[in-house]
Amino acid sequence: MKLAVIVDSKTGNTKQAAEWIAEGMNKVGSVEAKAFTIHDIDEEFVKEAKGIVVGSPSYAALMTPDLHEWLLSSAGGLGFAGKLGGAFATEQFTHGGGETVIQSILTVEMVNGMLCYSGGGACGMPVIHLGPVGVNNNVEKHNGMELYKDNFIVYGERFAKKAAEIF
Ligand SMILES: Cc1cc2nc3c(=O)[nH]c(=O)nc-3n(C[C@H](O)[C@H](O)[C@H](O)COP(=O)(O)O)c2cc1C
Repeated sequence: MKLAVIVDSKTGNTKQAAEWIAEGMNKVGSVEAKAFTIHDIDEEFVKEAKGIVVGSPSYAALMTPDLHEWLLSSAGGLGFAGKLGGAFATEQFTHGGGETVIQSILTVEMVNGMLCYSGGGACGMPVIHLGPVGVNNNVEKHNGMELYKDNFIVYGERFAKKAAEIF
């Protein structure tokens, strides 16, 4: 079963998180997960995928305009409808809007007919409510993407297990 992680990423943080999510997905037997940016999509792979997780940097607490435009123009053609959907974000401030970025992505996914899943509180620790958020160390020197690596990996594994259960 194919699973895709798709991001917009200008400086690499969100792409890194996407690769960690795909790493977690690939821990589940029979799953082949790949991470893409919106500029290097393998369209056939994404069409065949049973689940898609979309990620964005926080831009004023929303997804990037490029990702939004890409979703509006591409989600239909790539067959998002009926697939399992998830979302995640990166940001440079602890309170930089990552959760609202995730909400904005999940809204588009649901409008396109996806079945959205995060694991929520049902999977125990680490509890991930809407999706994982990573805070980089651009500004907050005590922070850094590596601190969130395990959360992204475990989120990917949970998402893949649910996709395998459903499909
Ligand atoms: C135009 C712009 C707006 C941003 N707005 C926010 C913001 O509202 N909150 C925040 O925490 N970080 C904000 N950032 C920082 C990015 O979200 C953060 O550095 C992110 O990890 C970058 O992801 P990338 O490396 O994948 O491009 C902004 C960056 C840019 C360029």
